[in-house]
Amino acid sequence: MSNDHRREWEDRHRRGVTWGPPSPFVVTALDAIAGRGNAARTTPRRALDIACGAGRHALALAARSYRVVAVDHARTAVAALRARAGGLAIDGVVADVTHWPLPVARFDVVIVVDFLERSLLPALRAAVAPGGVLVMETFMVGQERHGHPRNPAYLLRPGELLAACRGWTVLLAHEGEGGGRVPACRAGIAAERPLHVDSAESFGS
Ligand SMILES: C[S@@+](CC[C@H](N)C(=O)[O-])C[C@H]1O[C@@H](n2cnc3c(N)ncnc32)[C@H](O)[C@@H]1O
Repeated sequence: MSNDHRREWEDRHRRGVTWGPPSPFVVTALDAIAGRGNAARTTPRRALDIACGAGRHALALAARSYRVVAVDHARTAVAALRARAGGLAIDGVVADVTHWPLPVARFDVVIVVDFLERSLLPALRAAVAPGGVLVMETFMVGQERHGHPRNPAYLLRPGELLAACRGWTVLLAHEGEGGGRVPACRAGIAAERPLHVDSAESFGS
C-alpha cells in the first residue's frame, strides 16, 4: 500500500474516526464463541485484530481476557490504542498488513472489520488455529447508494465471505441492507476452522 494511502489514514485517525464502540456483529460473535468455550482450558486465548484502527475490537477482546495482537499501518491509531489499553494485554504493532508476516495457525480469534484486502484472505485463514474463529465484517455492494466506500475493491460481493470460509463451520453470518442509525449494506461472518485439517484444505483457492 502507498505512503499516500497511509498518510490519508493518519489524518483520519487524528480526527478520531475509529473511536466508536465495537461492531454489534463482533460482540454477538464473541458471545457465541464464549458460549462454545472449553471451560477446562488454562492457557490464555490469543487474538489478532487486523487493521485495528484505534482498537475498538482489540479492547473488546482484551476485556474478555484474550491476549491481543493489534496491527495497523497508522502510528496515530496504534498510539491511540496503546493509550486506551491501560494494563490490558494488547500488543499494538505499527505495520502494513500487506507486508507483515502473519503467524500461522496461532490465534483463537482473528478479527478484520471495515478493511478489505482480498489478497490477504489466505493468510488470514491460515493465521487461525484449528478450532479458532475468523470474524470478518465490512461493506458490500449496494453501499454505493448510501455513501462510502464506493470503490468495488472495498466492497464484498454477495456470498463472498461464505465462499472465503468454505469448509469451515459458520457460526454466524449476515449480509445485505441494514437499517441501523445509518443505513448501510454490510456482510459479516464468524467461521470456525476445523480441528482436523485434511489435505483438501487449500487456502483461498
Ligand atoms: C475503516 S478503519 C477500521 C478500523 C478497525 N478495524 C475498526 O473496525 O474500527 C480501516 C483501518 O485500516 C487501516 N489500514 C488500511 N490499510 C492498511 C494496511 N495496508 N495495513 C495496515 N492497516 C491498514 C487504517 O489505518 C484504518 O485504521
